[in-house]
Amino acid sequence: MQNIVILFSGEGSNLEVLITKLHKKSCNIVCAITNKPKAKGIKKAQKLGVHVEVLDNTLFESRELFDTALVKLIHSYRADLVVLAGFMRILTPIFTSQINAINLHPSLLPLFKGANAIQESFESEEKEGGITVHYVNSELDGGEILLQESFIKSEDESLESFTKKIHLLEYNNFYKAVELIV
Ligand code: GRF
Repeated sequence: MQNIVILFSGEGSNLEVLITKLHKKSCNIVCAITNKPKAKGIKKAQKLGVHVEVLDNTLFESRELFDTALVKLIHSYRADLVVLAGFMRILTPIFTSQINAINLHPSLLPLFKGANAIQESFESEEKEGGITVHYVNSELDGGEILLQESFIKSEDESLESFTKKIHLLEYNNFYKAVELIV
């Protein structure tokens, strides 16, 4: 079975689903790494028996130094694939040139790149919302697309209902993209 490392920064709800659906079934999730010491996902992963490493980005003087340490940590786990599940960092070529990674993004790329994708796609004239799983390259949210799923906005859609639909699509599909690869 292939070794997977998951990176996350916050709530960790996607991390939780990935572990539940995949760990020791279609791959080994050998470690979950966060850049935020207070990330809620830490406890979620530990409860499900996955080892967590904290690499606090505020302790590094530059993005490059952080990414160098992150790459070293990932290599120490002999990861075949790295899965970014809500990892809120802009990655430098130090990472993108050395690590085979996929990312989950809450819009139909190439629309709405960046950190405010849900709100921007909700407020836009687009009739659909959706999610994308893509390979990570040096361009932010720009790598080759692996999977996309969408839904039609309802007439009385609120930001809250839209956000819920996005997360549901994420939970139902992200793990499938990992299965496609492993
Ligand atoms: C998800 O919406 C994902 O698309 C985005 O960050 C969010 C992470 O949520 N990149 P969680 O930490 O998995 O709950």
